[in-house]
Amino acid sequence: MSIEQQGGQETAVASKIAPATGKLGVMVVGLGAVATTLIAGVEAVRRGLAKPVGSLTEMGTIRLGKRTDNTSPLIKDFVPIAKLDDMVFTGWDIYEDNVYESAANAKVLDKDMLLQLKPYLETIKPLPAVFDQYYVKRLSGTNVKKGKNKRDLAEQVRADIRAFKKTVDRVVVIWCGSTEIFLKPTAVHQTIEAFEKGLEDNDIGIAPSQIYAYAALSEGVPFANGAPNLTVDAPALIELSKKNAAPVCGKDFKTGQTFMKTILAPAFKARLLGVRGWFSTNILGNRDGEVLDDPQSFKTKEESKLGSLDYIFQPELYPDLYKDLYHKIRINYYPPRGDDKEAWDNIDIFGWLGYPMEIKVNFLCRDSILAAPLALDLVRLMDLAKRTPELQSIGIQEWLSFYFKSPQTAEGLYPEHDLFIQSMKLKNTMRHIMGQGLITHLGLEYYD
Ligand SMILES: NC(=O)c1ccc[n+]([C@@H]2O[C@H](COP(=O)([O-])OP(=O)(O)OC[C@H]3O[C@@H](n4cnc5c(N)ncnc54)[C@H](O)[C@@H]3O)[C@@H](O)[C@H]2O)c1
Repeated sequence: MSIEQQGGQETAVASKIAPATGKLGVMVVGLGAVATTLIAGVEAVRRGLAKPVGSLTEMGTIRLGKRTDNTSPLIKDFVPIAKLDDMVFTGWDIYEDNVYESAANAKVLDKDMLLQLKPYLETIKPLPAVFDQYYVKRLSGTNVKKGKNKRDLAEQVRADIRAFKKTVDRVVVIWCGSTEIFLKPTAVHQTIEAFEKGLEDNDIGIAPSQIYAYAALSEGVPFANGAPNLTVDAPALIELSKKNAAPVCGKDFKTGQTFMKTILAPAFKARLLGVRGWFSTNILGNRDGEVLDDPQSFKTKEESKLGSLDYIFQPELYPDLYKDLYHKIRINYYPPRGDDKEAWDNIDIFGWLGYPMEIKVNFLCRDSILAAPLALDLVRLMDLAKRTPELQSIGIQEWLSFYFKSPQTAEGLYPEHDLFIQSMKLKNTMRHIMGQGLITHLGLEYYD
């Protein structure tokens, strides 16, 4: 029952959530543009140099009870999440650059800001990575682990996690690494036993991201996936997640073009406006753009970006409006723009009696500026999930769909892409675990 239906009564019982005391260790796989913008950004906010714009866990509020109650605390005061001051960062990368050097290369944040943060940022040095160029064709680096097989590499990552755990109270792992080639689940991904045998046999179906994920989940540590790679979207890793009470979520941060798409498309559908075509193109000049210039990495991204419209429009329910929709996505690597991506969308819609109209969207965005606050929210909320009895052993944290282009769901469930449904789901999950009534927006009681 909703709070509006019950006139403000609280029925749910708060989960016994363990408090967020002590240090939260954040281990980031891939210390590139997004990761360094996250780490430098958190430090800038801690020092009062800038505001955490875009972060729900920093700036967002949540309404509790009836609209007339005027109770809307900050989310960070409502759910027990780690304080920024309690967050400690480390990570892995195939390059030896420390976080200051990597942030300077990425050219997302301006030099003045980086210089102020330099003494802190240069203390964070990447651990050697698990890497194989077969899975990311455009990169090669020297800061790479050696091992006799994939099982051995996984053991080395587990040792990294255990060593870091000794210095903090809790750990979360987040993938901010490059997009790997397109992989589909195979027999090796079906059970924990098959996966472990695959590690031993160096099965080609197991990508480096899955070696990190396996290591984290084996240590009972939550794992979030910011890229479109298969990674934890496989039965064996979900089974391990449930078994070890280590939550997982993914895939692919929803930042620029797909963020706009999942706002606009639900609006067209709500008004029953038809869509004939949606052409999306991007230019992007950072290292991510370079990696996506490889057709096999692009394929992974393309799959992730394509899914949303089909699920939102439900052409099987609305054949007259969406059956013939032509949806095309292009990403072009264009070095002069660096991290400042430009995206164009041409949308051919039609209205009453089939009369055509056009919409053009031109989003000049900053990729990592949009992604960093999502990564911050995700690590804090995954840590919350780990401390929440009702969430820790369910595997996929679908309530975090809000953050992803291609949200992971339980087997047989279609993903929810509409940004505002995702936002409601996220906030209702918070109300639920805190023992507050859900909000359905029915609101008839105001007219009794
Ligand atoms: N708005 C966004 O920026 C956005 C949105 C959605 C998804 N993503 C995804 O997030 C990821 C990071 O984006 P970015 O712009 O920071 O890219 P980036 O190229 O700047 O950083 C990625 C880093 O990962 C490292 N890396 C690659 N494979 C690794 C491995 N196996 N182990 C450890 N390190 C590894 C690379 O060396 C690089 O430093 C990409 O997959 C990207 O597609 C970004």
